[in-house]
Amino acid sequence: MSTPMLQLRSVEAGYGEFRVLHGINLRVDKGEIVALVGPNGAGKTTTLRTILHMTTLYRGEITFEGKDITKVPTHKIVEKGITMVPEGRGLFNPLTVYENLLAGAYTKKAMEKLEDSLEFVYSLFPRLKERRSQVAGTLSGGEAQMLAIARALMSRPKFLMLDEPSLGLAPKIVLEIFDTVVKLRDLGTTILIVEQHVKNSLEIADRAYVMEMGQIVLEGEGRALLSDERLRKAYLII
Ligand SMILES: Nc1ncnc2c1ncn2[C@@H]1O[C@H](COP(=O)(O)OP(=O)(O)OP(=O)(O)O)[C@@H](O)[C@H]1O
Ligand SMILES: [Mg+2]
Repeated sequence: MSTPMLQLRSVEAGYGEFRVLHGINLRVDKGEIVALVGPNGAGKTTTLRTILHMTTLYRGEITFEGKDITKVPTHKIVEKGITMVPEGRGLFNPLTVYENLLAGAYTKKAMEKLEDSLEFVYSLFPRLKERRSQVAGTLSGGEAQMLAIARALMSRPKFLMLDEPSLGLAPKIVLEIFDTVVKLRDLGTTILIVEQHVKNSLEIADRAYVMEMGQIVLEGEGRALLSDERLRKAYLII
């Protein structure tokens, strides 16, 4: 078996004294979409933050492309090609669309490819090109999420983590966002996505993990999990 792109082994992590993750084992292979689902407070965001070295890690190992990254500072992890679209988007509201995109291209490598990256994100989201001079704070919810994803892409990630990209969006926009995620995977970006829309995310995911109270309780192929009785009951999937 080839080396996973990202692997977490027996990861225990949290915030100071407060332990949230109790031994997480998870892997993402190159070219996959992997979904991480589970109820509020299960530790999904904490898992993504832990990968980026933004929490306290007590035990376990995280490797990216076969190399241990548990002690690597966040900005160096971004340089290695991991980027997150955070829950709540984290846009700079007073800045324009264009300025937000520039802010996403802050690594040296990303700056060199700036023009190329701008062209790519504008082709992916033509609406952002039309609105490039508008301040982020006045964008609609859907446009703001597009900008959050586009900004993350400006750092040219090999591995993109999305934390609830569909939160608060109308069903039609949710589908557009999911289509974009599939397109990005098909263009070669590996993706780890946290979602509340369990059904939609399992439909597009190659594999998925279900998390409860800081532990992985179920894993499998996306579509196979969709027909799993335990999951259907827990999430009331009809
Ligand atoms: N900065 C923090 N300091 C202390 N505890 C935190 C912090 N952030 C999150 N927690 C706690 O960690 C636990 C897991 O939170 P986390 O945000 O990872 O859950 P989640 O699965 O992403 O939930 P949701 O679906 O609501 O986003 C919760 O009990 C939460 O209160
Ligand atoms: Mg969360």
